[in-house]
Amino acid sequence: MRLMPAAAFLAASLAIAAPVAAPAWAQSPPASIAVKPDVLIAARQSAYAMSAGTFVGMKNAIKDGEDLKPWAQAAADMAEWAEVIPSLFPPGTETGHDTKAKSAVWSDQAGFAKAAGVYADAAKKLAAAAKADDKAAFAAAFKDTAKACGACHKAYREKE
Ligand code: HEC
Repeated sequence: MRLMPAAAFLAASLAIAAPVAAPAWAQSPPASIAVKPDVLIAARQSAYAMSAGTFVGMKNAIKDGEDLKPWAQAAADMAEWAEVIPSLFPPGTETGHDTKAKSAVWSDQAGFAKAAGVYADAAKKLAAAAKADDKAAFAAAFKDTAKACGACHKAYREKE
């Protein structure tokens, strides 16, 4: 048996190792569910706008000392939304539909995903506090959530 020349062996092993796996959320969808960039950008912008409306409602609920239980589902939905945020910024949606996303979203995908994770964790705490109608915990989680919004915007969103 002939030994494989070192160069050929190296080439063969490189060929196996070469495809660097992209994070799951960054992989291209099958063509059958491909969405136009403008549509995806509009969808993420409206989800942000709706979540901001929900957030203002929570702020008023705190101020008015409302029963918090009715906010539990909305907070759980915010956490779910936070978890899918990174998947709504695939390559190819850097421009279009007047996006305010900074290029850092794509150059620092790990940081962006982490910022979304901080948001998701805070929103989960909001949901748990609402479910328990724990006003102090809800107010604290609200502050943490607001911080998560602000921190991500500072790094990843253009100013209006
Ligand atoms: C992980 C990062 C991140 C977090 C966390 C985050 N945002 Fe944003 N937000 C963005 C980016 C990026 C955009 C720009 C989206 C675009 O234009 O494509 C945006 C856009 C928005 C917009 C404008 C939507 C529109 O109509 O165009 C609002 C309002 C908003 N965010 C509110 C919030 C609120 C409120 C929170 C917290 C409860 C929050 N965001 C948390 C990154 C984040």
